Amino acid sequence: MPTVSSPLRVGICGLGTVARGVVRVLRENSEIIQLRAGRPIVVTEVASRRARPEVDLAGAGFSTDVTSLPNHPEIDVLVELIGGEDTALSLIESALMAGKPVVTANKAVLARHGDELQQLASKQGVSLGCEAAVAGGIPVISALEHGLAGNEVEWVAGIINGTCNYILTAMARSGQSFETALADAQRLGYAEADPTFDIEGVDAAHKLTILSSLAFGMDHRFSEIHVEGISGVTLEDLGYAGQLGYRIKHLGIARRSAAGVEIRVHPTLVPETHLLAHVDGVMNAVLIHGNAAGDTLYYGAGAGELPSASAVVADLIDLARGTALPPAANRAVDIPVIPIQQNVSAHYLRIPSSDRPGVFARVATLLSEHEISIEAAIQRAQAIHTESEEHWVPIVIVTQPVIEGKVTEAVAAVQALPEVVGEIVRIRVDDLDGH
Ligand code: HSE
Repeated sequence: MPTVSSPLRVGICGLGTVARGVVRVLRENSEIIQLRAGRPIVVTEVASRRARPEVDLAGAGFSTDVTSLPNHPEIDVLVELIGGEDTALSLIESALMAGKPVVTANKAVLARHGDELQQLASKQGVSLGCEAAVAGGIPVISALEHGLAGNEVEWVAGIINGTCNYILTAMARSGQSFETALADAQRLGYAEADPTFDIEGVDAAHKLTILSSLAFGMDHRFSEIHVEGISGVTLEDLGYAGQLGYRIKHLGIARRSAAGVEIRVHPTLVPETHLLAHVDGVMNAVLIHGNAAGDTLYYGAGAGELPSASAVVADLIDLARGTALPPAANRAVDIPVIPIQQNVSAHYLRIPSSDRPGVFARVATLLSEHEISIEAAIQRAQAIHTESEEHWVPIVIVTQPVIEGKVTEAVAAVQALPEVVGEIVRIRVDDLDGH
């Protein structure tokens, strides 16, 4: 029977980048970890479907049968790091059913099954740690659960996918193509196994689901999030955004209002004077506005071996010293998710148009008929493109904030003009002041 001062015995499922980092951090920082935890934390078992004899497991047992780990008699906690959904979910459930706490970095499983898993953990009286699931090494889960616990959180906005941020930064800074920047992000180990999860916004939506649940005390509502990725962002749009005083960032935004909560993930023009506009490369940042604390900003590496391991080990230390609590029962409040067409946003519009007199006036008239005011516009002669016999130029407009439904109607009307010769590009603009 383990005693209070006996080691916390850890079983790790998975032997990828993060798992190797956890083994390394527990070994290299063992003295300080033991001091803080009040007892040693030791990896006793590792299970991974693929054996990796080159990895030094510091004396832990190894098995290729991952299903045996949750009930293994020599572990006190399961650390789930295999990723994916189905097997990971059943491993977490088995450990909780066996009365063992779980630490996981699995944002996909939490976003889709977080409510059931929290209920199960609550019923079993064990904790479910997930610091590593959102924004890698940034302790943002802890900030929401502890540091900001006395606040009504009004909104959260974050750069929470390192791969998207890496790609957009490389494109904006050095004019790299989307494809080259993505290949680099994959080579550097930032991207998910299926990089479409990164570039189409799914990974960020998983993380925003978890953040929203903690920030607003709501259920995990992944399927109701409006999700857009960055595959449509071009060098041309990054250039125009720059000329207008903005940078394009891929943001997750969740805002509480009397009507419910907006939850959305999409490329966003952010004023270049805003701190988030300067979060570059693979770095992540989460800005949280609480009604007492005001704005607080959390910045750091959102992916990678040691940053993610740092978060997993923090959860293990909490467990070892007895401060990791089971989730509260029936914690979720029923808050409606506001449909995206009712959301209020300013928009950037790039309208490829024939270079003929009166086109800009026609576009402006249609916008005003839909009660949309123009904040800024660019139409420059040097932007002329020539295709077949006709010259065309992009009309670039930033609107004032307006209900999205009106923008959708106005864009459809402008798109139907005979002078509009290509697909209109539409990107939201947010000054991140909470309005
Ligand atoms: N693929 C993720 C990212 C890794 O790029 O941010 C961390 O979740």
